[in-house]
Amino acid sequence: MTERNASADSAEKRAAGIAASEVVESGMIVGLGTGSTVAYTIKELGRRIREEGLEIFGVVTSYQSEMLAIEAGIPLTTLAQHPELDLAIDGADQIDSNLYAIKGGGAAHTREKIVSASAKHFLVVADESKTSTRLDKAVPIEVMPFAKELVMKKIRELGGEPELRLALRKDGPVITDNGNFILDSSFGVIKDPEGLALQLSVIPGVVEHGIFTNVNELYVGKKDGSVKIVRK
Ligand code: 5RP
Repeated sequence: MTERNASADSAEKRAAGIAASEVVESGMIVGLGTGSTVAYTIKELGRRIREEGLEIFGVVTSYQSEMLAIEAGIPLTTLAQHPELDLAIDGADQIDSNLYAIKGGGAAHTREKIVSASAKHFLVVADESKTSTRLDKAVPIEVMPFAKELVMKKIRELGGEPELRLALRKDGPVITDNGNFILDSSFGVIKDPEGLALQLSVIPGVVEHGIFTNVNELYVGKKDGSVKIVRK
């Protein structure tokens, strides 16, 4: 697992994140994803609320997006109050031309999947390094600590190589916002993302895996500040 810097500045991420915020209209309930790319969207939505009178409510996907949304001044609501969202915007770690994505680099994919599945439209923002002709990154799998050994065995039976994600500034494993562990699991090239997603979902003790098959639209930010839009 490479070191992660969720506050990393990048022209590409900024371009994609800000362009996606333009899709948001007053009256919308918007899912706010996690990571350094969608952080630009969250900040820009805050600016539009302050300067343009945009009226929205956000639903957060992590403590990180909650802190950013509060700092940006975005009024928040919950899925209990608003079970159906107009739009969810989030980043990705890898995304292919069919808009199958791997998420969970920030260990937030469980809530991200719940929030995006609650939305009528799911828009992913990314820089060009995230796009790929094939999915081959390790799939983050959130597991109940009690089930770690069983889940690792089942992942190996599916041809995967699970690795417990360790924390950087804490001894021991990363603990998710839901109190669970993450197994970053390499499967080589994932030829059938939908099939693998189903196989992982039925393992007892798997809370959620990072294969997303519900992306509707992708905004890819480029170095020159332009944004390529891909729709399903
Ligand atoms: C968090 C995620 C992020 O959306 C994904 O890791 C992309 O992050 P970034 O925009 O910082 O590259 O899935 O769990």
